Amino acid sequence: MTRFAKWSSVLPPLALAVTTAHAQQPVDDAQVKKGAYLAKAGDCTACHTAPEGEPFAGGLPMSTPIGTIYSTNITPDNETGIGRYTVEDFANALRNGEAKDGHQLYPAMPYPSFSTLTDEDVEALYAYFQHGVEPVAKENRDSDISWPLNMRWPLNIWAWMFAPDEVGFTPDDSQSDEWNRGAYLVEGLGHCGTCHTPRGMAFQEKGYEAGDEDYLAGAELDGWYAFNITGDEDHGVGGWSDEQLVTYLESGSVPGKAQAAGPMGEAIEHSLRFLTRDDLKAIATYLKSVPAVSEPGPSRFAQGTPADDVDRLRGVALTEDAPQDQAARLYLGACASCHGALGQGSQDGHYPPLINNSVMGSTQLGNLTQVVLHGIHRETNEGELLMPALDQDISNDEAASLMAYLVEQFGHPDAQAPSAERIAELRGPNPEH
Ligand code: HEC
Ligand code: HEC
Ligand code: HEC
Repeated sequence: MTRFAKWSSVLPPLALAVTTAHAQQPVDDAQVKKGAYLAKAGDCTACHTAPEGEPFAGGLPMSTPIGTIYSTNITPDNETGIGRYTVEDFANALRNGEAKDGHQLYPAMPYPSFSTLTDEDVEALYAYFQHGVEPVAKENRDSDISWPLNMRWPLNIWAWMFAPDEVGFTPDDSQSDEWNRGAYLVEGLGHCGTCHTPRGMAFQEKGYEAGDEDYLAGAELDGWYAFNITGDEDHGVGGWSDEQLVTYLESGSVPGKAQAAGPMGEAIEHSLRFLTRDDLKAIATYLKSVPAVSEPGPSRFAQGTPADDVDRLRGVALTEDAPQDQAARLYLGACASCHGALGQGSQDGHYPPLINNSVMGSTQLGNLTQVVLHGIHRETNEGELLMPALDQDISNDEAASLMAYLVEQFGHPDAQAPSAERIAELRGPNPEH
């Protein structure tokens, strides 16, 4: 499709309605409100709000292969934020990755995805960031990257080579309006590919839209794995119903299929759960159409012994006086009260089954290890959700034997349970274990 013609066209002049500094324009409340919604869809807060920090005041550390950079203050403060940005400056930062003073931004700002934003949506976002967000005086922090890697000019070359050149969104006329809305959200504001698309040599996403090789095929991410979400029936979301996908994106949980923890839990908590059901349905429609990328081995959604096949489960031996090995005792003590002795979960689905669960059934066990060590803590539209962290209560050896037990009971036949050393790595520096 057309988004990739490199420098083939000079960027069209923006036909933007709000062109001068905000003070001279009457505030359009409906536009500010629309911008607030789009800011949710783009999850601007994920990177621009530091833990305990003021909303959108920046300063969140982000590790890159060459060092740590810090997100910037995008509140409308005139001195330290983007108060002096015109709508053109703002559009240029979002879609071309260029700051007001002309320096090229690191692609840690997902401008290659945001390049699809329409003029209309840029204007609404601008209205929100100028009028709907409190100005905060907070200086931006320089990166910890040292010379010569801290020079910004190579980023221009990166942008030239890898970032989509055309801006805006060209609907695919052969598809429905719903599909096009889904494509706009997934490829653009939702920047799903930032996590779900594997990266190439220069840390660029291998593709930015349906039809590009390996688009959304699954990728590693700081000790997590963002699964394959292409249309593949067994390894992607091709076997999910639309309703299951919408429920997942809205609540983070489809019992007997998948839950959301870590970076996806955050994406749902801060962004996706605020989207309308129509938008989520559009995302589902689009995702299921993304060309399937298959993986070797059986589906991660079809693992674990069904709970009614009790004889085959060691769970039956897990009674008070039966001889129990350490791993089974750990499972009984730490997991069974919620997920059941046989991993069947609770009746109402609040505590999901570990059978047919995508994290449990995957060969990529980073996510499972993270969840066991660090638990889950997530705000949902229905209230708070909690799975306790075991980090402080379990040694690396104990965690390794628990993981081996989980894999044997509920896991993928090709999965390799992590060693105590790997667990120590994922746990991070902690001298006590
Ligand atoms: C995945 C992380 C991430 C997300 C999501 C994100 N940003 Fe950014 N953004 C960054 C980082 C990091 C920088 C600074 C990059 C640099 O210094 O090179 C930045 C820079 C910017 C800048 C330039 C600011 C300046 O100081 O000149 C603007 C404007 C901006 N972002 C707006 C947004 C908006 C609006 C959204 C939501 C639609 C958003 N960002 C979402 C990471 C993100
Ligand atoms: C910040 C990184 C990040 C972003 C952005 C992100 N995801 Fe995810 N996603 C993940 C991770 C990590 C997982 C695995 C979660 C887990 O194991 O609990 C995941 C899981 C999923 C799953 C469940 C897959 C399964 O088999 O369990 C779906 C569906 C999904 N994401 C869709 C999306 C969509 C749609 C978007 C964009 C609107 C998106 N994700 C954006 C990181 C991300
Ligand atoms: C206090 C209750 C509780 C205990 C104890 C508990 N969990 Fe959970 N678990 C939960 C909840 C709640 C969720 C999240 C459900 C959701 O997202 O809707 C969850 C989710 C999970 C998931 C899915 C994670 C994902 O990202 O998809 C796995 C796997 C899991 N638990 C395994 C375990 C294991 C192994 C143990 C024992 C070490 C354990 N749990 C102990 C309550 C518990």
